[in-house]
Amino acid sequence: MAINALEIIRSAAPAIFPSFLRCDFGDLKGELSRLADAGAKGLHLDVMDGHFVPNLTYGMPIVEGLRRHSDLPLDVHLMISDPLAYAKPMVEAGADLLTVHIEALHPDQTLDVIGAIKDLGVAVGIALNPETPLSTLAPCLAEVDMVLVMSVEAGFGGQKFNPNSLEKLRALRESRPDLLLQIDGGIDIETILPAREAGCDLFVVGSAIFKQADYGIAFRELEAAMLGNPSRGSERVSVERNGQEGSENS
Ligand code: DX5
Ligand code: ZN
Repeated sequence: MAINALEIIRSAAPAIFPSFLRCDFGDLKGELSRLADAGAKGLHLDVMDGHFVPNLTYGMPIVEGLRRHSDLPLDVHLMISDPLAYAKPMVEAGADLLTVHIEALHPDQTLDVIGAIKDLGVAVGIALNPETPLSTLAPCLAEVDMVLVMSVEAGFGGQKFNPNSLEKLRALRESRPDLLLQIDGGIDIETILPAREAGCDLFVVGSAIFKQADYGIAFRELEAAMLGNPSRGSERVSVERNGQEGSENS
């Protein structure tokens, strides 16, 4: 999958990638099939180490398990302090796209880490948190396949969308018309259209999908909103799923 994954992702855009953070971890195979049936074109996997961010999720075994049961591109968001140490095991587990945080890297090592990930044969993304200025990406922008603009502080699902992400998207789109742009955090039927209009290609969505009983309805509503044609949400039925402490900070 890794060789063509970037092209597959590019051709899927604009696309919604469900975030594996608030899903039912007791039924990952079922979640995969429900998300595929709903129309997911890629899966966003939130890997947190309890150090770079104050939350702990999962590592290679979950990536490997998802890889075994799905052909969809696996977009792995590494919210970890030492992304280089885990890049190779993540690729061996089946990751297609590895995104590292600029805040986790010393400026002197950024290009080396990006180069090392590319050498593993997968696509590479660079992420930045809301408080991190866009200028920090300047030295590596030409080397990455994707920029992930965080619209919440990395670490938890269910946070409020930060509109400063829209300015970053607009500036990136203007300076790099062909660069793949992704947004992550607080994306729902209200925020997805402004993000699309700002030039975003890939929309990571957690709560707005997993809080609904029917993922197909969630996808249809989000896609309609993304195209500027919002439905009235009359089909929506909410559920409480994976609501334990630590998965959401609201
Ligand atoms: C935050 C994660 C996101 C988040 C998105 O650190 O990277 O993927 O779970 O979830 P919602 O859509 O709930 O903001
Ligand atoms: Zn994420």
